[in-house]
Amino acid sequence: MGADGLRGATALSHLFLREGVREGNRVVDATCGNGHDTLLLAELVGGGGKVWGFDIQESAIVATSLLLESAGCRDQVELIHGGHEQLGSFVSGPVDAMVFNLGYLPGGDKSCVTHPRETLAALARGAELLSPGGRICIALYTGHPGATEEAEAVDGWAAGLLPREFHVWRCRQMNRSPVAPYLILIEKGC
Ligand SMILES: C[S@@+](CC[C@H](N)C(=O)[O-])C[C@H]1O[C@@H](n2cnc3c(N)ncnc32)[C@H](O)[C@@H]1O
Repeated sequence: MGADGLRGATALSHLFLREGVREGNRVVDATCGNGHDTLLLAELVGGGGKVWGFDIQESAIVATSLLLESAGCRDQVELIHGGHEQLGSFVSGPVDAMVFNLGYLPGGDKSCVTHPRETLAALARGAELLSPGGRICIALYTGHPGATEEAEAVDGWAAGLLPREFHVWRCRQMNRSPVAPYLILIEKGC
C-alpha cells in the first residue's frame, strides 16, 4: 500500500477497488467526471475486461475519453453520455464493481450535481446486477447545496440493505471537518 492510501475518500475507494477488481472483470463508473476513477477501473480490468462509464456532461465524457486514450485504455471502456439512472438499459449483469463519485465535477459546472432520485435508482439497479463478492464504492460530499439531502438518502438506502446479503460500511475521517467527503463501501455476500 502507498503511504497516501488513506489520504481521503477517493484514495480509500481506490484501495478498496484495487484489492477487489481483477483482470477480465466487468465494472461501472457511474459518474466519470474527469475520468480518474474510469482510468483506474480500465487499468484493473485490462483489455479482456469491460468498463461502462456514465456522465450527463459531454465535457466529462470528452475528458474521460482523452485520458483513457492517452493511457492506452480506451478499447475496454464504453462511455455513455447519459444519466446513470439508465444503467439497466446499458449494463448487463453480473457486474463486479461500481463506483459512484457523487456531487459536481471538480473544475467544472458546480451547479451540475448528482441528485438523490437518479442516484438511488442507479444504486438499486446496480445492487441487483452485482456479482457475489462484487463491490460498490460511493463517495459522498456534504458541502454543496442539496448534498446533505443526497447523503442522507444514500445513507438510508445503504443502511436498509439486508445484512445477510450485503456487507455495508461507512468510512469517515475523524480528524477532518464534519463536512469532509466520506465513503460508503458495499460488498455483496457470496
Ligand atoms: C464528483 S464528479 C465525478 C468525478 C470523477 N469520478 C473523477 O474521477 O473525476 C460527479 C460527476 O457526476 C456527473 N453526474 C451528475 N448527475 C449524473 C447522472 N445522473 N448520471 C451520471 N453522471 C452524473 C457530473 O456531471 C459530474 O461529472
